[in-house]
Amino acid sequence: MKTLIAYCSRHGSAEKIAHLLYLEIEHGPVRLLDLSHESFPENLQGYDQVIIGGSIHYGQIQSSVKKFCNHFSPDLMNKRLGLFMCYMMEDKAQEEFENAFPEDLRNHADALGYFGGELLIDKMNFLEKFIVKKLMQENEPIFNLDEVEVNSFINKMNH
Ligand SMILES: Cc1cc2nc3c(=O)[nH]c(=O)nc-3n(C[C@H](O)[C@H](O)[C@H](O)COP(=O)(O)O)c2cc1C
Repeated sequence: MKTLIAYCSRHGSAEKIAHLLYLEIEHGPVRLLDLSHESFPENLQGYDQVIIGGSIHYGQIQSSVKKFCNHFSPDLMNKRLGLFMCYMMEDKAQEEFENAFPEDLRNHADALGYFGGELLIDKMNFLEKFIVKKLMQENEPIFNLDEVEVNSFINKMNH
């Protein structure tokens, strides 16, 4: 079984998750596709399962994640599918996830990952630091990735 993991990350949280999935997904070869640097494959032929993930900034997942979902939507409906996001605002998570991924893909997916997130202050630019302080009243790093959720997602994809 061949797997594609297509992801986008700003400061590294979603990337960390994608790399962990790369190591933990079983039953065959896995390819990582960084949507911020690499172009879309011509098609998804040859992949039995696809995992798509990104992170939320200002309420939105990266546009390349949305474009990937829309571009390959018909194909994705015929594959095993996992969708995940990194985020920090627990009270907005449901709404952000629904906004990030189209309904048909969410309903079709074998695993949905709400993985929490991190605030990596050192990697933020001046504006991001300012906004995080304003929006979340935080100016210290936070490491809040949800290991239990990640493991549960991996188990579902490997089942
Ligand atoms: C400038 C900025 C804006 C953010 N906006 C949101 C937001 O609207 N909602 C949310 O749930 N998390 C928000 N976050 C938290 C990120 O989703 C979280 O830091 C995540 O781990 C980032 O993952 P990445 O490093 O893979 O991009 C924001 C973070 C930053 C730095």
